[in-house]
Amino acid sequence: MIRKRGQFFRMDTPNTTLVIDAERAETVYYGERLSGACEFSAYTGSGRRLFSVFGRSGGSEYSVAFFHSDGGFTADFSFARAKVSDAKPVLPDLPSSYGEGKTLELRYTDPAKLALHLFFTVFEDSDVIAVSAQLHNAGKKPVRLQRLMSLQLELPGAGYRIHTFDGAWGRERHETVHTLQNGTFVNQVSEGYSSHMHNPFVVAEGPCGLFGFNLVYSGNHKEAFECVGGVTRALIGINDAFFDWEIAPGESFFAPEAVVCFAPDEDALRLRMHAFVSEHIVRGRWKKRERPVLFNNWEGTYFDFDEQKILAIAAAAKEAGAELFVLDDGWFGKRDSDTCSLGDWQDNAAKTGGLAQLGEKVRAMGLEFGIWMEPEMINEDSDLYRAHPGYAMKVPGRTPVRQRHQLMLNLADERVQNFVVRAVSDVLTRSGATYLKWDFNRHMSDCYGKGVPAGEYFHRYMLGFYRVAAKLAKRFPGVLFEGCAGGGGRFDLGILCYFPQIWASDDTDARMRTDIQRGTSYAYPQSSIGAHVSACPNHQTGDDNTLAARFNVACGGVLGYELDPTKLSEEERAAIARQVAFYKEHRKTLQFGSQYRLCGEGVEGYIAVSKDEASAVAVVNALNVLPGQPDLFVRFKGLNPSCVYEVTRADPSAAADGETFLAGGDLLMHGCLPLHGLWEEKLAQHCSGGIVSRMYLFKKTKQRS
Ligand code: GLA
Repeated sequence: MIRKRGQFFRMDTPNTTLVIDAERAETVYYGERLSGACEFSAYTGSGRRLFSVFGRSGGSEYSVAFFHSDGGFTADFSFARAKVSDAKPVLPDLPSSYGEGKTLELRYTDPAKLALHLFFTVFEDSDVIAVSAQLHNAGKKPVRLQRLMSLQLELPGAGYRIHTFDGAWGRERHETVHTLQNGTFVNQVSEGYSSHMHNPFVVAEGPCGLFGFNLVYSGNHKEAFECVGGVTRALIGINDAFFDWEIAPGESFFAPEAVVCFAPDEDALRLRMHAFVSEHIVRGRWKKRERPVLFNNWEGTYFDFDEQKILAIAAAAKEAGAELFVLDDGWFGKRDSDTCSLGDWQDNAAKTGGLAQLGEKVRAMGLEFGIWMEPEMINEDSDLYRAHPGYAMKVPGRTPVRQRHQLMLNLADERVQNFVVRAVSDVLTRSGATYLKWDFNRHMSDCYGKGVPAGEYFHRYMLGFYRVAAKLAKRFPGVLFEGCAGGGGRFDLGILCYFPQIWASDDTDARMRTDIQRGTSYAYPQSSIGAHVSACPNHQTGDDNTLAARFNVACGGVLGYELDPTKLSEEERAAIARQVAFYKEHRKTLQFGSQYRLCGEGVEGYIAVSKDEASAVAVVNALNVLPGQPDLFVRFKGLNPSCVYEVTRADPSAAADGETFLAGGDLLMHGCLPLHGLWEEKLAQHCSGGIVSRMYLFKKTKQRS
């Protein structure tokens, strides 16, 4: 709801309030929801500006910067108008959140006939506020935009703890905390994709609570925090590195949408972010729909497979209870290694028998058929490259950087966009696939497109990618797209607007996944996180973990298996069948329940609580169990304190569950449950270096505590 009182606009979400002084362009208040009528005049003049420009705003990081054609580069925006409407702004070719809500549009004008529009959207049911910015050139000369941040929020005081989610291939989104007392802290990426290194999601933790920020964008991003004149300025938007965008007379530039959420603590912030993504970002058929359990052949076979092998894996997957079989890389062109054929999306019929036939055979087993593609890429050793070398992203006369032997396609070019739409459509139609794993296995290096100005390249690429993704999502509404980028290199809200789930990491080691999934699930709901059980020793770390531990950890996301089940023992296959049956039984809670992270001395895990609080599944992982160590403890979360629960040590991987006990929700949440016998359990696992993982199942009883 948005209410106006003089120059003040008050935006209420179910649990938060944002108050803006439109005339002064200031944030008056942002935090816990205010009750009743408020008088804001004593709180104004805070100097917490909604935008900043060179020369007038202090500091060194501004939200808007541009060059006029006469050589000047200052700006002097003053308030022009404010408007509340039911419609969100349309951001051409950019993904954005959707749903019923109200939008406040503020307009500030500069004497050089530039207008800065700021949009704030509040949804009835969400504590996340969507913000975007537009710069319009109503003058007669072009303006060169150097930066337009989507959101500026100035927070009172200094000393904020900035949480970022960082890593590399195989260890994405590990949480790091930096305290900002003075100066500037920047979380940014300039290699053309949201990246393995620094996710666009950041949190500023201050004395009143936490502010979570994210960007609905998959390209270069920047989240800057600067202490200026007693406030901490947060700037969220496209990275201005190599950015220089000409706005012609009569035209506008639209910055992608940013989102912000205030919450009193981490649990609340996670839940608010999850609810927002499920309700206002993920769309179409898969919105809030249970995701199938899949088997993927990649780690089971790599490139070494034929039709017979694939059908044997699919048959074993079906026997284990899988619902979807996914054929990964290696089915097209002459691709038996990663050196060739990207771009040649024609069947290697000698290897697979042809996609149409293979798809039919898999479906005849009672499984859905899914397929892998890497549509934005090209190998120089491909018919596509030989026919259209100009489709590749390559600077004329220079030797390109080849990563994984491949180049990128120049999606800033409409012809290339059309090629990709055609190629993906053909594969989906031919194979009848109802799932597509959309991979992206390298960063951008040789950015170049004929006729594309250098400073516009990165963003034009993203606009091209979104055009393609939007067309395909519309053309194939039933297909479940799973985003992937060398594992989890493009896990962001932009991708989630088209692809409802994303492969979190190529690293499926249970210990590594605890950190990766904990970091990822801070901002993104578990229904969006691809999580697989793979073979041991793990192909990325060389470490062992029990099948039970691997399953327990994978249940924190969308469960899949990434191995060759025909190579497993009868016992292991039976255990997997029990795991899949258990997952299906509790899938609604695991994928769409309220997920809280559990933490304590030496333990970590999660609990997923059903929406009606009647049941829950928890996983508790002891990461380093040592001899002679005193008992570790766990406290659960999210249960109903006044209900009694029957708690079972569940072990779907074994033939029988462990002990059961009764306890009130309050004791389970406030008391410390001792984890007896961890060391004995670790020794019995015969799994050197593995974690000890336990699963608990909670069922509400009729008794009251
Ligand atoms: C990437 C993906 C893997 C797999 C390979 C295939 O690395 O992250 O899951 O699909 O590509 O080449």
